[in-house]
Formats: sequence, C-alpha cells, structure tokens
Amino acid sequence: MADPTSSTPTAGALALADVPAEPGVAKPDPILVVDHVMRSFGGLTAVDVDHLELQRGAITSLIGPNGAGKTTFFNLMTGFDRPNTGSWSFDGHDLASLAAHKVARHGMVRTFQLTKALTRLSVMENMKLGATEQRGERMLSSLFGPLWREQEREIEARAEELLVRFKMDHMRNELGGELSGGQRKLLEMARALMVQPSMVMLDEPMAGVNPALTQSLLGHVKDLPSHGMTVLFVEHDMDVVMDISDWVVVMAQGKIIAEGPPEAVAANEEVIDAYIGKGHGDESRFTPTPRAQAVAGDTIVAEAPPSADEGREDLKLDADTDPADPAAGDDTRGGA
Ligand SMILES: Nc1ncnc2c1ncn2[C@@H]1O[C@H](COP(=O)(O)OP(=O)(O)OP(=O)(O)O)[C@@H](O)[C@H]1O
Ligand SMILES: [Mg+2]
Repeated sequence: MADPTSSTPTAGALALADVPAEPGVAKPDPILVVDHVMRSFGGLTAVDVDHLELQRGAITSLIGPNGAGKTTFFNLMTGFDRPNTGSWSFDGHDLASLAAHKVARHGMVRTFQLTKALTRLSVMENMKLGATEQRGERMLSSLFGPLWREQEREIEARAEELLVRFKMDHMRNELGGELSGGQRKLLEMARALMVQPSMVMLDEPMAGVNPALTQSLLGHVKDLPSHGMTVLFVEHDMDVVMDISDWVVVMAQGKIIAEGPPEAVAANEEVIDAYIGKGHGDESRFTPTPRAQAVAGDTIVAEAPPSADEGREDLKLDADTDPADPAAGDDTRGGA
C-alpha cells in the first residue's frame, strides 16, 4: 500500500509534471476523452463539459460545490444517464449511448455517493454478485453453463483475495445489513474491483466514514494505480484531495473551470471564488458546504438500467441512518 506520509511523486504525478494547468488541457496518455457533453434537466444545465482528458494511471479528483454536476457527470460517463449532446471515448472505444453494464465490460466502473450494498446478502455474496452485476450477466443462466464450476472457483478466489486486501475476510459471512456505514463503503469499493476494471470512478467514498476507516479507504484508493487502475474521485474534503490527487479537476455549474496539480488548483482564485464566494478572507483553504451523508440499503441494480433518476439518490434512503447527522453510519467496529 502507498505510504500516506511519502512525498515521492507517484507515476501519475510524474506523467503530468509538464502538463499546463488549464481547463481542457491535453494529457500525455489519456484513458478518457470527453467532448461537448451537455446534460440539462428542464431549464437547468447540470453538466456542460467542453473538453476533458483523464490521464491513464493517475488519481484525478473531481471537486466542486454541491450541485456542480459531479454525480451527473459520473452518471453520464458510466451509462446510468444520457447526455443531450456530446461524445466520449474510453481506451479508444466510443462509449456514448452504451448501457451501464456494457460500459463496465469495457473496464470502467463506478461506486455511488450513497452505498448500495445488499443488506440481506453476506459480504461474500455481495462480492460474488459484484463479479456479475456490473457486467449485466445473469447468475441463473450461468449456473447451467459447462464452465460454471471453473468460473465460480475463479470468482470466489478473487473475492477472497480482495477481502483479504481490504481486511474484511473475517467478516465474509456477516450480512451487508450488519455492517457499519464505513464498512459498507469498503465493501462497495472491493466489490467494484471484482470485474478487474481499468478505471474506477468513486463518488465520495469517504463521506460519513469515521477517521480510522477514512485512512484505510484512502490507502486503498492510493493503492489502485499500482494495480493498473486509473481513478476519478469525487471528494469534498480538501485535505484528502490534496493528499491523494495527482491532478485536480474543478467543476462549477456544470463546467470545468480549472484543472491542474493539487497545489496549483488550491491557489487558483477562480476555484476559491467558486467554493466560498468573492470577498472571503481565508484563501488558504476551501470550505465547501458540508452535506449530510447517509447510507442507502437495498437498492442495488443488478442489470443497471440507464436512469435519469440515478443522480437523485436522496430519494432512495433507507431509514437506518439519520441523513441530518454527518456522523451517522460511522464505523465504530473496526474491521479495516
Ligand atoms: N434527475 C435529476 N432531475 C433533475 N435535476 C437533477 C437530476 N439530477 C441532478 N439534478 C440537478 O443537477 C445539478 C447537479 O447535480 P449533481 O448531483 O450532479 O451535483 P454534485 O456536484 O454531485 O453535487 P453534490 O456535491 O451535492 O453531490 C443539481 O442542481 C441537481 O439538483
Ligand atoms: Mg454528487
């Protein structure tokens, strides 16, 4: 795992060292290239990205105030929503208009701002489902295939390996519903890795997680590039963003208003204005509006249908945490 205190530049940071900090700038080896993607809801333009490239193997943070369009952008890229206009290519493949499970087959997976672990399945069952749900395969039909046993063994071995890596192997038989909010976040990240993706998009994976588990989650995210993965990461905590990112992209009112290495973005006037408004004295840090977080339960989508409602996860909350309490869902039982 990457040493959180290490100041050695990562491979991603080195690759981006000579790239100017300008919105829409070209990257040396982009895995995702986005052109003119626009999505509006009625009169509101939620996403309006002219051009964006994400460097392969790097950890890029996508930041911006509440309602900037970050989750909508994730939904569009991963086939959970459709843009009004625009195109994008992932690893050279045109992904526009592909359904979510086909996007996952190309190696791009995402997690949700509110977790979707199945509460009535065990940790191990959740992991095994992760191998198929993102790809839209049917568990039942695969049961009759001649290669089923072999596949089942491979899936179990991969699940076990990931549970060990995420230090959740001792919880393999616990039900999703028995896990704390933080443990569910860990499970969701581990489950997303079941399809061995080349790019992982994480929507606020640390939200509502206690400090001890936050460090553990952070370590796992930092570790993803060493497993050959590119990471796009939405996060409001600027200390986390500064610590983890090779590159930072700033969104406000649907547009990319700035991008660059973390230090350059932190010093950018336009970014500070977007977060805290003109006239604020403290320009050393951003202070985005904290948003109450909660953990959703039984709302996993096995063959994820493209849905314009995906951005409205607040409509699908379980009652197991108090959305008004940012500490709700905190992990206090260890496990990682
Ligand atoms: N399905 C939808 N129908 C109508 N409006 C939507 C829908 N999804 C998102 N929006 C609106 O689009 C805008 C962008 O929302 P989005 O959830 O993408 O923001 P965000 O940057 O992820 O915010 P946050 O940091 O609070 O998660 C908001 O004004 C939101 O209300
Ligand atoms: Mg969001």
